[in-house]
Amino acid sequence: MTERTFSIIKPDATERNLTGKINAVIEDAGLRIVAQRRIRMTEAQAKTFYEVHKERPFYGELVGQMTSAPVVVQVLEGENAVAKYREIMGATNPEQAAEGTIRKLFAKNVGENSVHGSDSQDNAKLEIAQFFTEDQIVG
Ligand code: CMP
Repeated sequence: MTERTFSIIKPDATERNLTGKINAVIEDAGLRIVAQRRIRMTEAQAKTFYEVHKERPFYGELVGQMTSAPVVVQVLEGENAVAKYREIMGATNPEQAAEGTIRKLFAKNVGENSVHGSDSQDNAKLEIAQFFTEDQIVG
C-alpha cells in the first residue's frame, strides 16, 4: 500500500553537507520525496516533536542537538514507506546499524544519528501535520 512517512535530516548531517547523499539513498530505495523544507527548528518545535521522550535522561541533549543547526524536514511516499524508511535508516545506534544503511554510512553516534523517521503510520500523520499542510505535499 502506498503510504507516507515523515523524515528529518538532522543537524549533524546538514552541518556536514550530507543532505544530497542522504536523499540519494532515500530515492535509490524507491521512496519519493514529496515535500521538503530546510528550517531552523525552534526549541518549542523540538520539545513538542520529542514530547514522548520528555522523561528520558537524553531529552535535554536531544532538544539542544535538534535546534543547534538547520534540519531538513521531509515527507516520503511509497510502498510501505514507514517500514521501508526505518529499514534504510538502520538502527538508532549506528554501531548496531546494518551495512549500507544511512546511519551506518553517516551517523556519528546514537544522539547525532543523522536522520529521524516515523515509527508508525499514526505517528507519521501527526509528525507530518506538525510541519506541513496538505497543499505543500505534492505526490
Ligand atoms: P530519533 O529516531 O529521532 O528518535 C529519538 C531520538 O533520541 C533518537 O533518534 C536519537 O537521536 C535520540 N536518542 C535515543 N537514544 C539516545 C541515547 N541513549 N542518548 C542520546 N540520544 C538518544
